[in-house]
Amino acid sequence: MSATTTVPCPPAPGRVPVLGHVPALLLRPLSFFESIRTRDPLVRLGFGSFGLYLANDPALVHRIQVDTDAFERGRFFEVLAGHFGNPPIATDGAAHRHQRRTLQPGFSRTSVRDHAQAIVEEAERRFAAWQPGVPVQADEEMSDFVAAVVLRSLFSADLPPAVVRDIRHTLGLISGKLFTGTVFPEALTSLPTPANRRFKAAMDRFHAVIDALIQDRRAEPGSVPDVLDILLKATHPDTGRPFTDHEIRGEFLILVFAALETTSTSLTWAVFETAIRPKVQQRLYDEARSVLDETLRLHASMLSTRRARHDVVLAGTLVPAGSEVGYSPRAMHRNPATYTDPHLFDPDRTEFGPGQAPPSGAYFPWGLGAHRCVGEHLAAVTMTVALAALAARWQLRIAPGARIRVAKSSLPHPSSLPLLVTPRG
Ligand code: HEM
Repeated sequence: MSATTTVPCPPAPGRVPVLGHVPALLLRPLSFFESIRTRDPLVRLGFGSFGLYLANDPALVHRIQVDTDAFERGRFFEVLAGHFGNPPIATDGAAHRHQRRTLQPGFSRTSVRDHAQAIVEEAERRFAAWQPGVPVQADEEMSDFVAAVVLRSLFSADLPPAVVRDIRHTLGLISGKLFTGTVFPEALTSLPTPANRRFKAAMDRFHAVIDALIQDRRAEPGSVPDVLDILLKATHPDTGRPFTDHEIRGEFLILVFAALETTSTSLTWAVFETAIRPKVQQRLYDEARSVLDETLRLHASMLSTRRARHDVVLAGTLVPAGSEVGYSPRAMHRNPATYTDPHLFDPDRTEFGPGQAPPSGAYFPWGLGAHRCVGEHLAAVTMTVALAALAARWQLRIAPGARIRVAKSSLPHPSSLPLLVTPRG
């Protein structure tokens, strides 16, 4: 289709002059993307000087993710990768493909199966220590569990609990900055405010821990077959020379980031959804996986983006080269056009019939195409094992009087999750 035949792209609802959609976003950050969802397949969003085409239609959402000729990583990933020195796994094109192939063996089903025993042990050890009737801070417990599993299975690192907590805290800060960093100008998010200074200090501590792990392993190369070993033996996709410690640190950090916030937030939501539903808990042991899939549907991230490599026509609109193009996993996963009662947590969904999957682009918890989650099996096994181990041992209940809010972030999470646990009889 030529440029002259394209139709103008309608603005998303809620736009005001100059500031565009900033007021609507600030007013209702969590429901923003749902509140602007229309029947238009593609709409235009503006946040001051930052503009974005937002896809509402599953077929477009599918295309934006899998058509790597047309779309590369956009601002969202650049903001994220910038925190870690732009490691190759967070880039695009040939360098990304090379790095992805290099890392893949560390994430294969077989390799994750090899870690399953360690994951079960970690879950057993942690959840066996809970005391009947003594409140459990389940959000912290889930995050500690996931951090221990990820650091152990990918990097064979057994770090002191205080260090793991510090790492988790730093990653939480990055996640909190990610969404605002995407839609607001960099100048606003990198001012030397006390919060930004604390963030820098936290990143420095994080770097020191990782550097020590890399140096220890360099002293004993090949001692353990894990992702860190793969990185030490790998060559840089751009230069063909071995990675420097600094570059390994970047890869390491982005993998830990990709693994921790996602897995621990989803697991904490899964525990919340089951803790308020005793009947669901009863079925959990057998049905952990469908609980997980529904959790990933309901609690997806706010926004993901690509950038058009060249002029592309989407839904009749000419999207010029260099434009940011996005989709909201959260809004797509809660779309009433696809799901009956989209806000209801229902692991027994039947809208697609037995064995039928939702249309591609309407449910994509692990992403689609070349950037589909490399840690999918690790995350699924970690969370399923944790849910099943919990259900086998404990009955969960939200601690009386607890008020649980949805905390704003690029991946919204429960503000906290205090539980009271009773042993299963
Ligand atoms: C509940 C847990 C997880 C969820 C929901 C999740 C989700 C996703 C999604 C949606 C993408 C695609 C992003 C895009 O296309 O723009 C992705 C990519 C990625 N994920 Fe995950 N993830 C999870 C756990 C993990 C774990 C445990 C790891 C292990 C390190 C991991 C590592 C990665 C990496 C490296 C990528 C980028 C892959 C590439 O660009 O080739 N994730 N993830």
